[in-house]
Amino acid sequence: MSILFKNINSLVTVNSEGALYKVGEQMQDIGEIKNGAMIVSDVIEWIGETSDLGDIISHYNIDQEIDLNGKTVLPGLVDSHTHLVFGGNRSAEFGMRLRGATYAEIAEAGGGIQTTVNATRKASVEELAEVGRGLAMSAAKYGTTSMEIKSGYSLTIEGEIKQLEAIRHLSETLPLRITPTFMGAHDFPKELKGDRNSYIDQIVNEMIPYISENKLAEFNDVFVDKGYYTTDEGTRVLEAGKKYGLMPKAHCDELADVGAATMAANSGAISADHLLFVSDEGIANLKNAGTVAGLLPGTAYFIKMPYAPARKLIDSGVITAIATDCNPGSCFTENMQTIMSLSVINMGMTAEEAISAATINGAYSVRKSHEVGSLEIGKKADFIICNCADYVDIFYHFGINHVEQTWINGKQII
Ligand code: NIG
Ligand code: FE
Repeated sequence: MSILFKNINSLVTVNSEGALYKVGEQMQDIGEIKNGAMIVSDVIEWIGETSDLGDIISHYNIDQEIDLNGKTVLPGLVDSHTHLVFGGNRSAEFGMRLRGATYAEIAEAGGGIQTTVNATRKASVEELAEVGRGLAMSAAKYGTTSMEIKSGYSLTIEGEIKQLEAIRHLSETLPLRITPTFMGAHDFPKELKGDRNSYIDQIVNEMIPYISENKLAEFNDVFVDKGYYTTDEGTRVLEAGKKYGLMPKAHCDELADVGAATMAANSGAISADHLLFVSDEGIANLKNAGTVAGLLPGTAYFIKMPYAPARKLIDSGVITAIATDCNPGSCFTENMQTIMSLSVINMGMTAEEAISAATINGAYSVRKSHEVGSLEIGKKADFIICNCADYVDIFYHFGINHVEQTWINGKQII
């Protein structure tokens, strides 16, 4: 049984002709079909212009027709970087920041990630899953259909497993497609700040083997930055994960240029995220390694830092994605439309580039672009219906929610 959607004013397919990502000029081509139509089951069965439907309809078992005159359809948005499962909140610290304290100063005084670690350690799997469920379903209302979620707010073996179990629970019970990432190397636990190596030993010798064996994560992430992991420590964590089949990702050069992007490229990281202070050398190395630049403009906005050099990255041919980084400290939003708006206004991206970055390139950054991220025959029927007649309107009329319906696997979930 299939559903026919027709008379879609602007049907944005992000067609990649089978390619798994878009770079440079290709990001401008989002395969828009005016007055489009699509036939979907759990996957896209047919896609084209409404005027071309003709006899084609008779080849499908269509039991519902939906007229989308005046609407825009896009592939479901892919949020490829979140820390959605955590305890407590940092509203009080945010208030301090508004009075002048910086993100780094709060962290140095024992707050920041440590505040969330204290609260997350106390929370149960159920409590963590409840927080994640609320935020993930809220994200779906704003158009997210696929989402990566990291651990990293416990920094003990039991706690990291507890967070990953909460993430697994979400992927088993929510309609969204969820990619789990282990991030034991998000910070050092305060108990072991003076003995960094023994915590890294735990990550390498205990956490990674257990997590891999129990299939609790697909990726392994490390925060390589000023005051966090060094490039050597980052390399050790990522190489250990690779031995156990965990794909490498890294948080890079968010607070300062420490050469983290080059470290990520040399480790074969799938993505290097943040990059507010990435060097030209780092950009060249990302390009040569085919590592995705995961840009998180909400974080630059929220902690009042300079934005990542999106134009330079795209123009240099680096595969570029955008994501929320949703977390309680440095960027508390689950809304991908806000991120798309920040990308065009504050990072110099075009509307088309922002759409490519939030769909197919985000999907590539979590290694899911063979099945989602564009509307092409055979791919999953994950899409959103927006209440506007043209995709540019999503950016033009900002600060509101354009998403009327969210569909995953050919089923309406919002
Ligand atoms: O991606 N950069 C490191 N980690 C998070 C922030 C975590 C927090 O402040 O709780 C990030 O920005
Ligand atoms: Fe992050």
